[in-house]
Amino acid sequence: MNGDAPDRARFRRAHATMLDVIPDPAQPLSPSPAPGAAAPDGAAPSAEDSAFSRASDALQRHREPSEIWGDEREAVSLALRWAASHTTVATDPKTTARSAEELQAAVGDTITEDGIGAARAMALFDEVLLPATRSSEDPMNLAYIPAAPTRAAVAFDTVVSAANVFGGIWENGAGAIFAENQVLRWLSDLLGWPTDSAGVFVSGGTQGNLSALATARDHALRERGRRPEGGWALACASTAHSSVSSAARLLDMDVVTVPVDDRGHLTGTALEQLLAEDPRICAVVASGGTTNAGIIDDIASVVEVAHRHGAWVHVDGAYGGAALASRTARERFAGIEQADSFIVDPHKWLFAPYDCCALLYRDPRPAAAAHSQHAAYLDSIDRGESNPSDLAAHLSRRTRGLPLWYSLATHGTAAYAAAVDRCLDSARTVAEAIAASEHLELLMEPELSVVVFRRTGWTPAEYRRWSQRLAREGTLLCLPTAFRGEIALRLAFVNPATDPDAVIAVLESTMREADGS
Ligand SMILES: Cc1ncc(COP(=O)(O)O)c(C=O)c1O
Repeated sequence: MNGDAPDRARFRRAHATMLDVIPDPAQPLSPSPAPGAAAPDGAAPSAEDSAFSRASDALQRHREPSEIWGDEREAVSLALRWAASHTTVATDPKTTARSAEELQAAVGDTITEDGIGAARAMALFDEVLLPATRSSEDPMNLAYIPAAPTRAAVAFDTVVSAANVFGGIWENGAGAIFAENQVLRWLSDLLGWPTDSAGVFVSGGTQGNLSALATARDHALRERGRRPEGGWALACASTAHSSVSSAARLLDMDVVTVPVDDRGHLTGTALEQLLAEDPRICAVVASGGTTNAGIIDDIASVVEVAHRHGAWVHVDGAYGGAALASRTARERFAGIEQADSFIVDPHKWLFAPYDCCALLYRDPRPAAAAHSQHAAYLDSIDRGESNPSDLAAHLSRRTRGLPLWYSLATHGTAAYAAAVDRCLDSARTVAEAIAASEHLELLMEPELSVVVFRRTGWTPAEYRRWSQRLAREGTLLCLPTAFRGEIALRLAFVNPATDPDAVIAVLESTMREADGS
């Protein structure tokens, strides 16, 4: 039996109600029907309607115009209609940033005593402001770590905004937090972590790394009873993301840089002596996919050595952690089941919109000890429930895991595995074409979905000229980087819609010229 049909019918009814309410600010407000009242045609609500009855009731009980804000239906209608249509339009890959002076000249002062009105503000956004941004979602944007959120996830972000749930404490956000926790459970299962592991969604990898390392430092202080002479330190490879040293600075920790092996991995062997000699090191950060080259550190040996020396292991999988969902890449993360904390940014490679980082702890108790906030007005919080605000450096929070929840619930985890695998395949296909090309040099076999390569004979200025020209034209976004001390180019594949043959065709047709012109 197809259980979808009644769901669709229910959705259409609720959706029609929503559109009835939103689009016509010209009409006066209709009186609010009582919750659960008979439909306007006199029919009693059917059992089938119950799933949406709450939403429909709420939608039919108009908020009265505010004494201060007035009737905001025009502002709501303009914004939601724009969002609905924009969610499904194609992206514009061109780099179109303008200077602040140019934007000021085009837009003028928008913050005025009397306001400029919703229509003008929306028009400026649509016609001037948004066109001066670059889409991270374009299939030919392969710079930095781009983005590729599903349409379902993007659309649901609007729902999350409309629901405006306070997601810091269970008592406020129970239903929404429950759904976020199911996603975190899926990730914990991919990690091979026990059922009492737990986590929280924070804004991004920088915030996730900071919160995890604050937990590690606090845990070390509780375990050892005092701060070591010379203060705390963390150990990581020089290839660790810049947010790790930024977190260390904020936490007043030194960074001990560990040499990598000849293929770029942090290993337990290299850590052993440093940990034996330096009691300040209370945490080790391993990369679950470096940003520059997609290298996964040797997590198993790092965990074994670090734990033997009483150090916390945090795995930064902000970009690469998504590959845990792949059918083929899980084994590259061997040992992660014993790590203490982990992050992955669903806004990078798990097809969610900005901003979203899943931060997970194998044992959440040290995180709660480090991060719980206490104040007279907070004392009534039910601490018996797991409160997301206890697990990171935040209190108020948007339930930003919900767009991922909706998309995962809609599409299923198998589609996620297929999407990640598609990106891994694309990277491999492009890497093979580069290796076979006469004028290009592949600098390493991709371990994940980043391809690092070189155009033989080009100077840094020629790389820049080529990259900027293609960015302006919107052909391909591919930026120079440094790899093993020399200039190189990198392509990051996180979008299953990227056509590897189209990328190869661009490299073939635009990189033959000896000077990048
Ligand atoms: C490995 C890694 N860690 C951390 C971060 C920081 O994440 P965010 O930009 O979400 O703060 C990034 C960003 O690219 C990353 O690639």
